[in-house]
Amino acid sequence: MKEVERIIRVDHAGEYGAIHIYRTQLFLAKYLYKDVAPKIEEMLSHELVHYSTFNSLLKKRNIRSCYGIHLWAFGGVLLGLASGLLGRNAIWVCTASIESTVLHHLEWQMDYLSKNDTEAFEAVASIKADEEEHQNYGATNASSSYLYKPLFSIVRGTTEFAIWLSTKL
Ligand SMILES: [Fe+2]
Ligand SMILES: [Fe+2]
Repeated sequence: MKEVERIIRVDHAGEYGAIHIYRTQLFLAKYLYKDVAPKIEEMLSHELVHYSTFNSLLKKRNIRSCYGIHLWAFGGVLLGLASGLLGRNAIWVCTASIESTVLHHLEWQMDYLSKNDTEAFEAVASIKADEEEHQNYGATNASSSYLYKPLFSIVRGTTEFAIWLSTKL
């Protein structure tokens, strides 16, 4: 089923992007704000598990990965650099924004997969609690500075665009 393939492929690419965001933020945090490094490291470890969940499913079903996967990696590094250089607050705004956008997509994916594909449903369902925890942590730790709204919108727009583009590639 094409739609199921597309969902797995987009999620796989998205997790790959998430790994690059958190890895870049972690790199900067280790120099600039050591206090936030352990939490970023923990989120990164979750994203690595998520990625391997979708990677195994792609392999098992002989589905190709997204042609734009290197764009996700590149975009992830850029977003990680930009947020990491703007400061702790930007890191948490970025996390809250990305994860809330991701969760919005997980909702409809799970709704669709629950009726069409049990195995893929289980894969998507398995990452949901982690993404919720990331979103909550980000939202709780981001203080509402002048930065919050514009940054939140920019990151949301970028994430939505990347997801949309991935369904075409
Ligand atoms: Fe994830
Ligand atoms: Fe996440």
